[in-house]
Amino acid sequence: MEYVTFGKTGCRVSRLGFGGAVAGLKNYLHSYDPGSEESKKSVYQALETALELGITYFDTAPGYGEGASESMFGEVLGGTAPPKIFLATKCSPTGYDGVIRSVEESLKRLRRDRIDLLQIHGSSYTDENVRDLLGPHGMVEAMEKMKKEGLIRFIGFSSEDNNRGLYDLMNSGRFDEVQLCYNFIFQHPYEPSRPFGSLYEAEKNQLGIAAMRAPTSGTFQRWIKMIRPDDTFDYNRALIQFVFSNPLVDVVLAGMRSAARVRQNVEIAEDMSGRIDLEAVHGRYV
Ligand SMILES: NC(=O)c1ccc[n+]([C@@H]2O[C@H](COP(=O)([O-])OP(=O)(O)OC[C@H]3O[C@@H](n4cnc5c(N)ncnc54)[C@H](OP(=O)(O)O)[C@@H]3O)[C@@H](O)[C@H]2O)c1
Repeated sequence: MEYVTFGKTGCRVSRLGFGGAVAGLKNYLHSYDPGSEESKKSVYQALETALELGITYFDTAPGYGEGASESMFGEVLGGTAPPKIFLATKCSPTGYDGVIRSVEESLKRLRRDRIDLLQIHGSSYTDENVRDLLGPHGMVEAMEKMKKEGLIRFIGFSSEDNNRGLYDLMNSGRFDEVQLCYNFIFQHPYEPSRPFGSLYEAEKNQLGIAAMRAPTSGTFQRWIKMIRPDDTFDYNRALIQFVFSNPLVDVVLAGMRSAARVRQNVEIAEDMSGRIDLEAVHGRYV
């Protein structure tokens, strides 16, 4: 397993990150019931296999099935502390008191007294959202207070976007990490030939950088099905390797809910022959 220093946190974490959305969300990407005994057993085995194979970065959120994903993580990872694991969770945008309540609940479900990374669980941030989050007695002030008290080690935020709100949050100096959507079909965060993009901005701010949706949350696969219905080639390997090839991405998140998927993705992560030269791919024509 490859390990990297996670931006200004200084922590060493595995480059492959265990994405927890698929564990907790009902019918996410395909038919699935997080409440069934069969699903829980499968997720527990996936988490145990991840630990055995050296994955140390785990990402979950209360929003993944109203706490279902966090509870499953707590069941298996509850007794495991850093540096063996780096546990990240989230809280949907809220106010000062809301995030404190949310962390109290997360800690219970995760069965720990400290969270390594608390992220604002975001998608798109308007200018007004950013003002509210960063303003006096706002959500970030409460996150900073919990960081000082030792309930949280680091703070960050996630975003699917590439707008001014994202840049303002990254440049605010208040965060240790950012989780961005970056993959083969969402390449806007990284254009090395100019260069520009939010991955460069995150790096400039020395943020730990996690990339969500490495296998594109099924979007690329659905597109292929539409244009080539008989195509049975497995594109997932190349899609995941694409994100691993980006030198600015610290942690590559892939959603996993079975031990077989974990083994497969560890093998992909360790296969250096699949890494490509992204600058060459983005190169101009002559
Ligand atoms: N706003 C936010 O904060 C946000 C938003 C989205 C995601 N995230 C984070 O990023 C993580 C990853 O995103 P995601 O789970 O939405 O999407 P994803 O990782 O792109 O897709 C997950 C699906 O990909 C399949 N998969 C994974 N590896 C595979 C492989 N090697 N071959 C074939 N299929 C493979 C799995 O299918 P099977 O189920 O069949 O195994 C899984 O259901 C999330 O779990 C979450 O931690 C955060």
